[in-house]
Amino acid sequence: MRGYKRILPVLIIVFIGLQFIPSVRNQSGQMAINDISRIYNVPKNIHAVLVKSCYDCHSNNTNYPWYANVQPFRYWLDHHVEEGKKELNFNDYGTYSKRRQSNKLRAIGSSITDDTMPLSSYLLLHREAKLSEEEKSQILKWVEDTRGSLLGSR
Ligand code: HEC
Repeated sequence: MRGYKRILPVLIIVFIGLQFIPSVRNQSGQMAINDISRIYNVPKNIHAVLVKSCYDCHSNNTNYPWYANVQPFRYWLDHHVEEGKKELNFNDYGTYSKRRQSNKLRAIGSSITDDTMPLSSYLLLHREAKLSEEEKSQILKWVEDTRGSLLGSR
């Protein structure tokens, strides 16, 4: 008990100190002229699912949840956004080469089939982002159709 009393103030000070970690804001505020929906035919319902479940980490506009105001959660989210955007940015899709576009589409398909996306840690706090079986099959079908038309146009 005594040890606990000694450590608590230290933890509180560390927690307060953490709040001063600088954070970036991933909100470009610009029209996403290279968004995937501008270069492919992305039906409204598919786009809505992608925005809801993927855009927080895979676009230039994160919709910051309440916990983003609290460190170390913000740090953790910023890290995911940075890594996620590096791999795949739906807002920049139009700037990718045809080959990269096709590879990324395939990767999107695998991430859905293998259930690796959205990240499970993110789903803990974002239940609304979890894909239903129906949404999964809609996205998979769309990925397949879109890849097919890309390959056909070469
Ligand atoms: C909480 C943030 C987060 C969300 C939400 C999220 N991702 Fe990711 N995604 C990442 C991170 C971080 C990586 C890179 C590290 C890794 O692969 O685990 C990644 C990697 C990927 C990759 C791998 C790219 C490649 O070329 O191998 C694909 C594809 C992907 N995500 C698709 C999706 C899709 C589709 C959704 C929505 C259904 C989604 N992600 C939602 C964070 C996220």
